[in-house]
Parts: sequence; structure tokens; C-alpha cells
Amino acid sequence: MNFLDLKDISERHMELVNPISAEKLLRVGQVAGLGPGQRVIDFGCGYGEMLRLWGEAYGINGVGIDIRAGVCARARQKFARIGWQERFEIVQGSGTEYDYTKGAFDVAACIGATFIWNDFAGAIRGMRAAIRPGGYLAIGEVYWRTGLVPPAYANREKFPTEPDLLAAARQEGFEVGYLVRSSQDDWDTYEAGNWRGLLDWLAENPHHPEREQVHTFLRESQDEYFRYGREYVGWAVYLLRATDRA
Ligand SMILES: C[S@@+](CC[C@H](N)C(=O)[O-])C[C@H]1O[C@@H](n2cnc3c(N)ncnc32)[C@H](O)[C@@H]1O
Repeated sequence: MNFLDLKDISERHMELVNPISAEKLLRVGQVAGLGPGQRVIDFGCGYGEMLRLWGEAYGINGVGIDIRAGVCARARQKFARIGWQERFEIVQGSGTEYDYTKGAFDVAACIGATFIWNDFAGAIRGMRAAIRPGGYLAIGEVYWRTGLVPPAYANREKFPTEPDLLAAARQEGFEVGYLVRSSQDDWDTYEAGNWRGLLDWLAENPHHPEREQVHTFLRESQDEYFRYGREYVGWAVYLLRATDRA
């Protein structure tokens, strides 16, 4: 199993697969001024939950792109269940290959998937042409909470610090206009949601040939979280606005 196969298992009970609450994502949409008929493009959309939340609260429509077939199928089923299959298109494929119409969106979002373009600055460059003048980018990103992370942990992950993110946004011609930050409770909800999915799978698959790998993945993710994740790793959604366009 590769990493995404393991995520398929761990995310079975989850709709949002990031350490953030629905209430905070709704706040991002409100600050971005979303309203009926506005269009949002969401790269790495997962189960389409942010699009659904913004659809319900603000009346938007749009498109989500995700590389995993099973994830896209679940998102499409969710929209079909509520009769929104025409309102939200879910496209399976890589975000870098999706040929969007330039300037056609009020908000372009990438919530926890900047790796699609390598990093935060790459995500800005990858999405900037999608938004109309005055539109927003919403980017959810992981970061080190301090520059003083012990090397034993810092060397394990290539995360930026928040000053790095601020500098990258400015370098690309954007200002950070608003942010929502994960609380410890948001992190616990996200991490424990993943463990629950893995444990259910282990209980249901006592003789599966890849059982050991799934069990190891569970334990390693718990070890990382308790040893350094919850102390040193932060996460936030940044709402960016271009300074060079009205
Ligand atoms: C951490 S999840 C976030 C999902 C969603 N944004 C949310 O907040 O619930 C990252 C998502 O990016 C998707 N992904 C990974 N590589 C991708 C790529 N190259 N293009 C599009 N999506 C990708 C994964 O399948 C996964 O669903």
C-alpha cells in the first residue's frame, strides 16, 4: 500500500481531512465575500466538504479536483445525494494538469494540498490565474510553530515557518488578508479521526496480508503526533488577496 491507500483507510469516517473545523472554513468563505452564484475552484478537494459547506451557507457553485478515484466517487455521491451534481463538478486528476478558465473564479482554494505544486509559493503560482480581479486565494498549510524545533524532528519534515509563508505570499504579489488557525482540539479531532478509521479496518481485516503495514502506519502517526506534532506543528488557512489587481 502506498500513502494514499493508507489515507483511503484512515479517512473513512471523515468529511474534512485537515485539522480545521467547519465553522472556521465558513468564516473564510464569509470574509472572502462569497455569495449566490459565485464560483470556487478547490484543488485537492478531498470529499468536497468545503465546497458543500460554502454551497449551503453562501450559494456558491464550482469545481473540485482530486487525484484519488475513490475520493472523487465519494464526493460525487455526496453531491448527488443532495441533488447538487450539476452545481459542483468533481474532476479526477492532478491539480497541475487541470486546464481551468483564467479569471473564472471568485476564490481558488487549496486546503492542505500545496504539495500539488511542491509548496506554498508554487500553489500561489499555480492558482493565481484562476481568480478574477479582486478574487481570493485560500490556502491551508502546515508550518513549524517555531524556528527552534529540535533537529531530531526538524530534519524529518520540510515544513516552512509562518514568517516563511508570509514572505512567500508577498514575494508572489499577495497580502495575507485573513487567517483561521487550527486549535489543539481541531488537531485532536483530525488525528483521532484517522486513528479510528485505521483501527476499524484492523478489526475488520484480521488476516489481511498488509495488516502489519496498516498497524505500523497507525502507531507511527501516533508516535509522531505525541512526540512532536502537537507541540511543534501548526496549521492554518490563509486568505490571500493580490496587491497588483483591483
Ligand atoms: C489533506 S487532503 C485535503 C482534502 C480537502 N482539501 C479537505 O480539506 O478535506 C489532500 C488531498 O489532496 C489530494 N491530492 C494529492 N495529490 C494531488 C494532486 N496531484 N492533484 C490533486 N489532488 C491531489 C489527495 O487525494 C487528498 O484528498
